[in-house]
Amino acid sequence: MTVKKEGESCRILTVGEVSKRSGVAISTLHYYESMGLITSTRTSGNQRRYPAVVLRYIAVIKVAQRTGIPLEDVRKAFARLPNGSKLTHAQWWELSSEWRQMLDERIQKLTRLRDELDTCIGCGCLSLEDCPLRNPGDVLAAKGPGAHILER
Ligand code: FES
Repeated sequence: MTVKKEGESCRILTVGEVSKRSGVAISTLHYYESMGLITSTRTSGNQRRYPAVVLRYIAVIKVAQRTGIPLEDVRKAFARLPNGSKLTHAQWWELSSEWRQMLDERIQKLTRLRDELDTCIGCGCLSLEDCPLRNPGDVLAAKGPGAHILER
């Protein structure tokens, strides 16, 4: 269904259409709505209706989830966008640049994990050949719990 809004035609979708096109279960859409990530209007029969741009928001939510960005961070980011915003390139750029730093840190950690698991990670086991070099007598225990070399 297409409606005219502020002179612009806007496709309106049912929850089933949104679910089918986005690949997200209806129950999850309801959950996203309860978290304030997406919004809908109601028909006189109390049925949800979404502007088609909701598909763009859901796509961003799915990307964020796949990269481990908490839904709460996504919600805060969306909350800064003007109501009914189409999530333009500029807005997406601003959003993603905020997440870029978090992703870079995560990439660094994963790279370290990949590259350093075959050597002493400072976990206290003292079981590898180079533990005496990197963690003599488990001196890193003084810093508290955790694999301090890996988690730095
Ligand atoms: S790997 Fe555990 S202390 Fe070195």
